[in-house]
Amino acid sequence: MRSRQGAACREMSLPQTPRAAMIAVMLDLAAAEACLTTPWRLEWHEQVTSTNDLVRAAARQGAAEGLVVGAESQTAGRGRHGRTWVDVPGRCLLFSVLLRPGDDAVGRLLGLAAAASVVTAAARRCGLRTGVLWPNDVVYGRAKLAGILVEQTQEVHVVGIGVNVLGTGEGLPCDRAVTTVQAVARAEGGHDEVRREALLAAILDEMHRYYGELKAGNRQGLMATIAEADQLKGRRVSVREAGREVTGTALGTDEEGRLGLLGPEGELWVRSGEVTSVG
Ligand code: BTN
Repeated sequence: MRSRQGAACREMSLPQTPRAAMIAVMLDLAAAEACLTTPWRLEWHEQVTSTNDLVRAAARQGAAEGLVVGAESQTAGRGRHGRTWVDVPGRCLLFSVLLRPGDDAVGRLLGLAAAASVVTAAARRCGLRTGVLWPNDVVYGRAKLAGILVEQTQEVHVVGIGVNVLGTGEGLPCDRAVTTVQAVARAEGGHDEVRREALLAAILDEMHRYYGELKAGNRQGLMATIAEADQLKGRRVSVREAGREVTGTALGTDEEGRLGLLGPEGELWVRSGEVTSVG
């Protein structure tokens, strides 16, 4: 993808939604595009089954990489390990990106690249210090701020990103505590003005950068961000993978996206799995 420069980032006022009224406030797509400095093709919907479904369908029709489909709400949002992903309409960023890396080594790192993009964008746009819980949850402390689901069919990678942005995250079902960008901004800086349009553009700009670096064979920037944001290194963790559970001290993430564990039988590098406990 080529880079486009010079789009001005417009100031926007925050949508005022009564907390109890779960009415979707549509993201201002033109404002998001004005903030964007990289050439993604954006479309935004009020409600869809799953943004990953729409991008997969577009890919089947031959859509080129760079398509981004977002929605205010999903009726069948998917999470990792077969879980559902529930949103509060109008308060999240729910979007999926179509990529065709043409290189499995790059494809394997797209989940990490998406997590790094959220971390970097949240720092750049909102001044937040968030972390990554391997493989690609974005967290603040122990509370989940964003989740990423990468689905692959042959050469097509659909990178689905769900970020809790506005409100407190209270009431969102999850296997762990949940927070939002706005709640973290309040906790960290005492301010709570968070614009979804600007954050979306920043995440996509970062994704463009990390993806471009990976395709050029440069993993250093991504690995440095992940190492800095790593919430597991040095901690005792259990990882469930394909029906078995391995436990050890986390060693960090390697350049293939694997988590290292130092257990009783030595070093073990896990390619995928779910962290089931953190000591
Ligand atoms: C997880 O943490 O388990 C991954 C959650 C991924 C959620 C996003 S929201 C946009 C995209 N569409 C989906 O159905 N899932 C991803």
